[in-house]
Amino acid sequence: MHGKPIILTGDRPTGALHLGHFVGSLRQRVALQHTHQQFVLVADLQGLTDNGSNPQKIRDNIPQVLADYLAADIDPDLTTICLQSALPALAELTVLYMNIVTVARVERNPTVKNEIAQKGFARSLPVGFMAYPISQAADITAFKAQYVPVGDDQLPMIEQTNEIVHKMNSLLPAPVLQRCQAILSDTSRLPGIDGCAKMSKSLGNTLLLSASEEEIHRAVGAMYTDPHHLKVSDPGQVEGNVVFTYLDAFHPDKAKVAAMKEHYQQGGLGDRNCKNELEACLQTLIAPMRERRATFIQDKGMLMAMLKKGSQRAHEVTQATLHEVKRGLGLPTF
Ligand code: TRP
Repeated sequence: MHGKPIILTGDRPTGALHLGHFVGSLRQRVALQHTHQQFVLVADLQGLTDNGSNPQKIRDNIPQVLADYLAADIDPDLTTICLQSALPALAELTVLYMNIVTVARVERNPTVKNEIAQKGFARSLPVGFMAYPISQAADITAFKAQYVPVGDDQLPMIEQTNEIVHKMNSLLPAPVLQRCQAILSDTSRLPGIDGCAKMSKSLGNTLLLSASEEEIHRAVGAMYTDPHHLKVSDPGQVEGNVVFTYLDAFHPDKAKVAAMKEHYQQGGLGDRNCKNELEACLQTLIAPMRERRATFIQDKGMLMAMLKKGSQRAHEVTQATLHEVKRGLGLPTF
């Protein structure tokens, strides 16, 4: 384990994971766990920042997310899977960082700004939600992560984290915190099955890792293509055609997809054919995950024991960083 670069990434347990998570992060984590020391954080506290009055939603979704991780092939022997609320060092670092970040800076974070507008919080905006980028900076720095695999919507969080690293280090006799860098996947944002910009639970346009054969069939059948491609012989457009976006994201044979695109653009390749190709590919991808997931989710005891074990290991790492910061600030660490 020693010497490998450190990765931290995480998810809010607000729902089961879907294909957008799979291409945006899960797939990448499976590859990175062999070459990096990887921590995956189940960010239940962050999940509560906009579900403060509904803790049951967060609680219920913790095992769901764990089952998704295992179904997607994240290996708990290679990746340390841990729970945010079980790591008090994260909360303590958050409190320390809050004093070196201005309200104006938090208000400027474009991701938070968007989310606040989308959720229509107005005067009911929770303080915790406003501050979640600071808490996320605590997550990342507590592990001394060098790399953070995230979607492009999380780039402002990385930027803000590095500002905190710089500021805090400058207050300490010697630097303690590690600067971090995002790792973006090639498909960092999968459109929804309805063609909407993003696959997202709140938009109801997802395909879950547990999707049934019938759900996959229906989703592909209803998928948005080129509205001007009326006859098979018409030339069709590939850009903005969700079927091709998905073929690019999921089809293992890139040459075949390239040939299909060319044929489609020239005319003579029907939507039905493209959809059949995509459906076969999604059925093959999802079937083993669905089956594995169904077994895992039946054993919540095993899932939570795995999370406890990972959290114990993460506790040591994060506690060590907290102590270094406190010592550097001259705060007692008894
Ligand atoms: N904000 C991330 C999301 O919504 C989840 C998250 C919490 C995270 N803490 C993190 C991601 C630390 C990377 C690193 O998906």
